Amino acid sequence: MPNKGDHNILVIEDNPGDFALVEEFLLEQIEAPIISHAQDYKAAKEILAHRDHPFDIILLDLSLPDKTGLPLIQEVIEIALNASVIVLTGYADFEFGVKSLSIGVSDYILKEEITSLSLYKSIVYSTERKKIISALEISEMRARSFAKQLNNVLEEERARIAREIHDEFGQQLSGLKMSLTSLKKNEGVRSDVAPIIDVIVADVNTSIQSLRQIANELRPVLIDKLGLFAAIEWLVSEFEKKTGISSRIYVDIDQPVINKMLEINIFRICQEALTNITKHAEATMVNFRIENNTQILTIRIIDNGKGIKASTLHNPLSMGLLNMRERANLIGAEINITSSFDKGTVIELIVSTNGKENINSRRSFSN
Ligand SMILES: Nc1ncnc2c1ncn2[C@@H]1O[C@H](COP(=O)(O)OP(=O)(O)OP(=O)(O)O)[C@@H](O)[C@H]1O
Ligand SMILES: [Mg+2]
Repeated sequence: MPNKGDHNILVIEDNPGDFALVEEFLLEQIEAPIISHAQDYKAAKEILAHRDHPFDIILLDLSLPDKTGLPLIQEVIEIALNASVIVLTGYADFEFGVKSLSIGVSDYILKEEITSLSLYKSIVYSTERKKIISALEISEMRARSFAKQLNNVLEEERARIAREIHDEFGQQLSGLKMSLTSLKKNEGVRSDVAPIIDVIVADVNTSIQSLRQIANELRPVLIDKLGLFAAIEWLVSEFEKKTGISSRIYVDIDQPVINKMLEINIFRICQEALTNITKHAEATMVNFRIENNTQILTIRIIDNGKGIKASTLHNPLSMGLLNMRERANLIGAEINITSSFDKGTVIELIVSTNGKENINSRRSFSN
């Protein structure tokens, strides 16, 4: 009894005998399948370009008159869109089979072993797997978009708190300082009170400095005033002052015009990298390079510290490292963190500044 279900199948097969067999197997197992036939790659491309309904499955013979082997698989996968590609071949080359699976083929079946049931099973598994993968992709997309929104809200909130601290408390403390200074100048004030007022003014000054520092860490004013490069230069000089770690920074003269969210995420990644060096690296030197080349910004932060263990580097619970990767992902950048024991750590961030290209999908992660 044939099975029901939507099965829109394209068979790419040049051998008429093999096609007839495959068609017979399909009709045996599936009730009213929609079968299209292409005898070579060119015809398949034509059919795929002009199809009315998307195909669920493509059954692909590996040796066509106009294309064969891996190049054929790669091209078919590229034009297959949502269809699962099942390779039918006469060769029992195990390594080739594994390789074809790794580049996106759903299954690899030897023609001599094929039965109507094994073909049907492969079709069902492939379509079900495709459904699960699509659901996972949608769910990942939702999670990423939620993370992006959360990140934006967080940064806006930080900026708001920084403004509040700076404008409200900062103004109040400055007012207090002015009142104390005029109180000291007042002729009626006892002479032994004046030194006490000086101490209070000094305390107020320290508080103003601390507030500025907190506000700046929440939202570096320099980013908004002078842009990313100046903010990073400030970050590195603060880092050197605080830690005493000798720091060299090279910054390209050309500063790209990029949006605030991109700037703030790049800044946060650099901030986390330097905080990690302060906390963990035991480094004596840091090299910071920012290069801006043909709409690609490359930032390298190199320390000569003790390095990050491979297990830590790939540990999903390393929240700081995870955050750096997530932020890079949010802005479509590539981040490579390479480290080896006692040889220091290199963090490389590659960002497209033209606002279009997603480097993340163009290049693969190296760690
Ligand atoms: N530059 C570095 N040199 C040496 N070890 C590092 C460096 N950066 C990170 N590590 C190691 O990797 C671990 C994970 O770093 P991560 O930033 O994820 O977490 P954390 O800094 O310990 O905590 P958090 O960032 O969440 O406050 C650190 O605990 C440390 O052992
Ligand atoms: Mg950290």
